[in-house]
Amino acid sequence: MQRLAKKWQRAGTRIGLVPTMGYLHAGHLSLVQRARQAIGQRGVVVVSIYVNPTQFGPQEDFSRYPRDLKRDLKLCRDAGVDVVFTPGDGEMYPRWGEAPDEPAREDARPTSGFSTYVVEEKLSQGMEGAARPTHFRGVTTVVAKLFNLIQPEVAMFGQKDFQQAAIIKRMVADLNFPVRIVVAPTRREPDGLAMSSRNKYLVGDLRRQATILWCAIQMARATVKKSRTFPAVKLTAAVKKLVACEPDARLDYVEFFEPDTLAPVAEVRRGTQMALAVFVGRTRLVDNAQL
Ligand code: PAF
Repeated sequence: MQRLAKKWQRAGTRIGLVPTMGYLHAGHLSLVQRARQAIGQRGVVVVSIYVNPTQFGPQEDFSRYPRDLKRDLKLCRDAGVDVVFTPGDGEMYPRWGEAPDEPAREDARPTSGFSTYVVEEKLSQGMEGAARPTHFRGVTTVVAKLFNLIQPEVAMFGQKDFQQAAIIKRMVADLNFPVRIVVAPTRREPDGLAMSSRNKYLVGDLRRQATILWCAIQMARATVKKSRTFPAVKLTAAVKKLVACEPDARLDYVEFFEPDTLAPVAEVRRGTQMALAVFVGRTRLVDNAQL
């Protein structure tokens, strides 16, 4: 991949990257479209597909995360993607002294021979960082690796993972990666549910209950519209109560904060960013919006 990227760069070919964990949906495909717009018809759009083990906690859904490479490749081809990069664990997290294609020992974790990480220390403290302590370390590390491998001029991320996008922008600025980060709006289902590969887990009534995240955002928006400013603690309590109306939903957190700094606010007003995580059955969903 790196050799190819260097060849493209020598030829003056512009590179746009859409990093994904696969099981692609319309949200990913809109990022592909934006990447194409950004680099033009003569540039190359690369989609990376890699379910990154280091961003999953030990009790999380790494092993059951949805995967369907054949379907993803067809979607990429139809969307005009030039290259799909699908590395294996042995290439991304080399086990020292072993060939990359050598099968791992049964008991070995995919990352057992890897010991260098990229860590953002401020923006990753709250929300997803507090709920999933090693998550962002895994994200920044794998994204830094993808930037080094693919050397894109522009890389696209979805706004659904608002905190992730903020952290990646900070990492790029702090470490001088020569890449422009574009954050594209969240794509939603007709009933407001944010598109996500994990929506596949939502079967039967859980799919209906999952719209509670969007309902909570709408409620917060209506409150701000009516009251101009509103205490964050009161709005937090209202969201908690609303989520509790669904039998299988449990609020993990809701936060109201400044979109640029991610600093929590005491008073919610127009322009405040809201983010929440909710378990619907065993599935943990996240969403966010500017109020
Ligand atoms: O947002 C995602 O799908 C992942 O966190 C990313 C950026 C591809 C890193 O694995």
